[in-house]
Amino acid sequence: MSELITPEEFPPAAGPLVDRFARSKHKLRLSLTDRCNFRCHYCMPEEPEWLPKSELLTFEELERVARLFIHRLGIDSIRLTGGEPLVRRGVPDFVARLDALRGLGLRRISMTSNGVPLRRHAAALAAAGLDDINISIDSLDPERFRRMTGGGDLAAVLEGIRAARDAGLGLKLNAVVIRGDNEDDVVPLTEWAMGEGISLRFIEFMPLDARGGWQPQRVVPEREIIERLEQRHAVEPVPRTREPATYYRVDDAYHLGVISTVSNPFCSTCDRVRVTATGEIYPCLFSPVNTDLKTPLRDGADDDELEHVARGAVWRKGRGFVESAGYVQRAITMHGLGG
Ligand code: 5AD
Ligand code: SF4
Repeated sequence: MSELITPEEFPPAAGPLVDRFARSKHKLRLSLTDRCNFRCHYCMPEEPEWLPKSELLTFEELERVARLFIHRLGIDSIRLTGGEPLVRRGVPDFVARLDALRGLGLRRISMTSNGVPLRRHAAALAAAGLDDINISIDSLDPERFRRMTGGGDLAAVLEGIRAARDAGLGLKLNAVVIRGDNEDDVVPLTEWAMGEGISLRFIEFMPLDARGGWQPQRVVPEREIIERLEQRHAVEPVPRTREPATYYRVDDAYHLGVISTVSNPFCSTCDRVRVTATGEIYPCLFSPVNTDLKTPLRDGADDDELEHVARGAVWRKGRGFVESAGYVQRAITMHGLGG
């Protein structure tokens, strides 16, 4: 992939949604709320101040944003995020509205959840058209899980995982690995997921937590994750695709993923863009700045104007983690940005 800056000062007015580094965007991560029933220390402040409800985009506004990105900007996959997206009421109905946009080019509707609300909502989400879900599970030890998630109930997450499977949703598990917290969980989590036949991806700890707890020493790099597994299993790398995870074949059967944003950033092939629950476009997890889409939306802008704002926001996207490589000073953290 070319990393040359194209000479034009402005983005192309039509065609694929691209940035200055010729990376085109196909995936939209749409946050529905900053609220969450967990307090994972790597994500949330200890005492979060929730955004006032009036600041959040309504489902009508969210649908307009989704439609714009699909119809005008070539987005074909939408992932609903949070906070915990399912703490907002009415999400299955919103998924059904998105499902109705498939004719415009939407191919995949996904969600990232902590799993707890799925006991109640998995069947309705699948019926509404949700294709797949990622659930976070950082440990199989209830006490350790509780510590990392600020009180989360592992049994409820396991029930949510079962509900997602029973509903026929595509399923992947995510585990953030943090030194001193859960590096000992790498082997048991892998063996458990392998036995259950569920995809699992380990995620390196990124400097996005709200509490300043990130330090380079607390990152358990991909290499170490694999070395831990190699003590018990045969592990072979699988050629990399455009996916953020690198995959490994474990014991000749199971595929395990590692998302190594810190030790091996995949920024040069990034194909995603983020919109927060308050309608700010963040072209990158590590963007120090955002672009306000809500104000023009509420001021009655037409689709041409909104398209212009979105194209400009993506065009100005930086290279990514490779250029920040540490904390970025800004007023938003992971729970507002949707991971
Ligand atoms: N580093 C790595 N992953 C994180 N997540 C949240 N905060 C961090 C962080 N600081 C992950 C969650 C979830 C997804 C939304 O993002 O575990 O899987
Ligand atoms: Fe909630 Fe997910 Fe953040 Fe944990 S990582 S606090 S579950 S939004």
